[in-house]
Amino acid sequence: MNLLLLGPPGAGKGTQAALISKKYSIPHISTGEILRNCIKNGSELGKKAKAYVESGHLVPDEIVVQMVKERISKSDCEGGFILDGFPRNYKQAEELTVCLKELGKEIDSALNFDASEGVIIERLTGRRICSKCETIFHIKNMPPKVDGICDKCGGKLIQRKDDEEETIRNRLKVYRESAQPLLDYYQKKGLLFTIPADKDYREVEKLLKDYFKV
Ligand code: AP5
Repeated sequence: MNLLLLGPPGAGKGTQAALISKKYSIPHISTGEILRNCIKNGSELGKKAKAYVESGHLVPDEIVVQMVKERISKSDCEGGFILDGFPRNYKQAEELTVCLKELGKEIDSALNFDASEGVIIERLTGRRICSKCETIFHIKNMPPKVDGICDKCGGKLIQRKDDEEETIRNRLKVYRESAQPLLDYYQKKGLLFTIPADKDYREVEKLLKDYFKV
């Protein structure tokens, strides 16, 4: 199963991707997470991406497309994968189609997480992530067992640099500018399925289970 998770920042893509990945034993590939790790490690790619990521702008297509091509060509993607945060615009979608064709693969579903602006701001301002393993929490909706500590690995929870309110608003603006042609691209292919993502995360999980009929 090759899945795409589309939708605005904070809609819950990463949260549900982690659950689907566990359930189906397929890798969860988050372009945002790969970029944040490159920035943390100070790699060449990280140096190029830093200013874009931290201000909420899109990293240039050629950098991200190459990164995804390399990742989905790896052997752990043979049984399927979940792409979270890619593609972000029409050009990336077209490039992905070409790349998958070369690999003899195609997308099975593009899930569009549809969430309203008020919900997004509340989720992103309250989000905390593990500084070691990037597990996602929320101070109210999905709090850790021990305040400030990751349930999974004991790492320290931090706030993402791009989760400040002004940067969140910029990310939403960037999303709105490129989203519609992307959604139309998958709609025309008959692959788009919209998830009402304002609902509680357990309800969203149930909707996805019903969708996959598991
Ligand atoms: P990326 O990391 O992809 O960020 P994003 O798309 O903005 O998405 P988020 O991670 O913010 O949100 P999410 O939908 O995963 O929500 P989450 O599950 O965490 O990208 C970051 C940056 O990298 C970009 O700005 C760009 O610079 C660059 N980049 C990445 N991909 C790129 C690309 N393809 N091209 C160019 N540049 C790229 O949930 C949010 C919070 O809500 C959490 O606290 C969670 O606990 C809580 N929550 C989740 N679901 C629910 C629910 N149903 N009910 C209540 N609370 C919930």
